[in-house]
Amino acid sequence: MNRSVTVRAPGKINLQLAVGPVGDDGYHPLATVFQAVDLYETVTATERDDNEIVITVEASRSLGIDPATVPTGADNLAARAAVALREAYGVEAGVSLHIRKGVPVAGGMAGGSADAAAALLACAEVWDLGATREGLHEVAATLGADVPFGLHGATAVGLGRGSDLSPAMARGEFHWVLATQSSGLSTPEVYAMFDTLHDAEADAASGTAPSDPRISQDIMTALMAGDAVRLGDALSNDLQPAALVLAPHLERVLGAALEAEALGVMVSGSGPTVAALARSRQHALAIAAHLRAAEVADTVLAASAPAPGATIIAAP
Ligand code: C5P
Repeated sequence: MNRSVTVRAPGKINLQLAVGPVGDDGYHPLATVFQAVDLYETVTATERDDNEIVITVEASRSLGIDPATVPTGADNLAARAAVALREAYGVEAGVSLHIRKGVPVAGGMAGGSADAAAALLACAEVWDLGATREGLHEVAATLGADVPFGLHGATAVGLGRGSDLSPAMARGEFHWVLATQSSGLSTPEVYAMFDTLHDAEADAASGTAPSDPRISQDIMTALMAGDAVRLGDALSNDLQPAALVLAPHLERVLGAALEAEALGVMVSGSGPTVAALARSRQHALAIAAHLRAAEVADTVLAASAPAPGATIIAAP
């Protein structure tokens, strides 16, 4: 029997996403606060007798995820994670990676990055690489800005492209409602619209061109106190205006969450998922019911946070 290891890794929301002016490398410097939510991607890595990397995807339709929207070729981020790990550790083994999706696709919640994080840990175990978390983190950072956080989980500050992580102190549990849309937004297009909006503002000499991004003290204080009301007031996302230009119907989602007395609401990351903060689990269910009745989103999920990072849940 070929060995199998199963790992799960969480999706995330950005409690703050401060975006600076685009750099020469085409990337925007970020100051962000990530929080992992208890919606998980599950990846099972199984040894192979050849050196192929084979991806299969299973997705829960009840979560509004269509498996056909997930690429299974070499450009799948979990496949790229396996290749990068093989190169970093000088091995030639193959692996079958079965991905069970629980995080909305193309929603700004880093589901693909969670696949990559889970694949790194699962392959490292199945190939018996003796890798450390730091070793996996180094490979993760080469795969995308959100992949290291998929390994890390919990609540963390991300600088640079978002992959320079340090843990944030957070007390207690926060209750979120996530409203997803079946048609995604493209991350590069949202950043390009961010540039367009800021160029327009600079032309109008309104003086609000993006400056160096900084972490909000209000967010850090609210997290440390476990104060959901304060956190709700402090949520911010510099990409939200750009996401709203590209997907104006998201205004209705934001409005409906406020009608249900969410403590705060924002577009998550580059969107189009909208995250609303609730006072309690009960309140999250009430907000979710209101959003469903308003028919402003394709799927509405309640989730708790912070959730742990990539974790082995089954091994031989
Ligand atoms: O990190 P990821 O590969 O998802 O980024 C996709 C694209 O989004 C990049 O090629 C870039 O155009 C844009 N991006 C950016 N600044 C960031 C992250 C992404 O401009 N910090």
